Amino acid sequence: MPKVVFVERSGSRKEVEVPENHSVLQAAHAGDIDMEGACEGSMACSTCHVIVDADWISKLPPASTAEEDMLDLTYGVTRTSRLGCQISVKGELDGLVVRLPATTRNMMD
Ligand code: FES
Repeated sequence: MPKVVFVERSGSRKEVEVPENHSVLQAAHAGDIDMEGACEGSMACSTCHVIVDADWISKLPPASTAEEDMLDLTYGVTRTSRLGCQISVKGELDGLVVRLPATTRNMMD
């Protein structure tokens, strides 16, 4: 199974294995990573915002217009920001490194 490497807000790294084609959001939940995913992948919340490592961003398919529109409403967006629910972890993304942003808009608070 491919794995996703999460860099948590504390700076610690955690590797999570996921079945192929699961999303980064699903990987976060499986690995008990602090990522809310309030809308469960329907691109209506941005609480799954991740910053993709610069070495990996070119390996991802480009963001859809809807994903970019949602990122526009998100705090702390960078050039390599993506929505975790929209990244499908394929075999070629084994080892993908994503960082949690310092702040997210948390829908449940
Ligand atoms: Fe809401 Fe990704 S979980 S946009």
